[in-house]
Amino acid sequence: MNVAGRAYRSIWPIESGSVAVIDQRRLPHEFVVAQLDTWEQAASAIHSMQVRGAPLIGATAAYGVALAMNQFERGDASGLGADAAAFLERTCEALLATRPTAVNLRWALQRMRRVLAAAMPDQRAVAAWREAAAICDEDVALNRAIGEHGLALLRGIAERKGSVQVLTHCNAGWLATVDGGTALAPVYAAFDSGIDVHVWVSETRPRNQGAALTCWELAQHGVAHTLIADNAAGLLLRRGQADMVLVGADRVTRDGDVCNKIGTYLKALAAHDCGVPFYAAVPSPTIDWHIDATDIVIEEREAAEVLRTSGRTATGAMQEVNIAPPATRAANFAFDVTPARLVSGLITERGVCAATLGGIGALFADINA
Ligand code: MRU
Repeated sequence: MNVAGRAYRSIWPIESGSVAVIDQRRLPHEFVVAQLDTWEQAASAIHSMQVRGAPLIGATAAYGVALAMNQFERGDASGLGADAAAFLERTCEALLATRPTAVNLRWALQRMRRVLAAAMPDQRAVAAWREAAAICDEDVALNRAIGEHGLALLRGIAERKGSVQVLTHCNAGWLATVDGGTALAPVYAAFDSGIDVHVWVSETRPRNQGAALTCWELAQHGVAHTLIADNAAGLLLRRGQADMVLVGADRVTRDGDVCNKIGTYLKALAAHDCGVPFYAAVPSPTIDWHIDATDIVIEEREAAEVLRTSGRTATGAMQEVNIAPPATRAANFAFDVTPARLVSGLITERGVCAATLGGIGALFADINA
């Protein structure tokens, strides 16, 4: 991804043995690169949503383990014990507890655990950094493949209509991944191949990932887009102003139920009612083969995120304001689950499949084995 003409990933190792991330809490107002020196800082970056988006959460946790291995070698195990295996276990548990819903976090930590269990003690740190880098490189490759498979869908629409109108929710672009994005990968691929594509971006209250992040990165890439209030999606779909809904996912069950940012389900319902296709872009690490939709833990965040909002004033200062009476109680559910029957298809790195056990299983029989 290019920012002001320079190529970036959303996370990368730096020479000092630390990790750099883009501080997503500061966008779209400021582009700030933050440095993570310890696994505790990596955990805090995930928890505070300095980094967010399912694939990037997984990648950050992987680098968190690598940072932990450095800390262990330096004798800086933060009171978590002198035994390497126990230290690794406790670090992984703490990283896993940062956010509950995106399965990519567990997937990345399991992968790091497996690799480190097989490494010689004096090779653990090197192995951890190598594996975290591999997870990142693979994420970029998965997203590129998702982009190619999704492009075929957008091209089909463009051939019929001359242009494509996509409705997306939250941010499933390159900021949510290491690079390339999942739901936005087909959009970027379409734009880069000369297709006339426009994206309707829903603001994604309460944290406004659509307004702050998706609009920002689409603008960086030069893709035409229009921000809408979350509640406007139904009207757009009813008027035929969107050709498809395209979202990411935090966890997809083997039966094709899609857990994603709160508000996704309502868009899927409206799309279904209006006969507009609803697709989720899903890299295989986002598939949870072992869970039923009803057992997915939906993150519940602080009420303050709903009761307050923040932005930049005309003088350039950041300001937070209350949007409800002081005594109001608020509930803040961060995700919802769209049942598979409302999902037209899943765009994976191996192709587009039906959101069914048979559809997913046929593409990923080896992984599910
Ligand atoms: O709470 P967030 O910002 O981490 O939620 C992100 C989403 O819901 C994304 O749609 C999802 O992680 C897919 S990212 C490729």
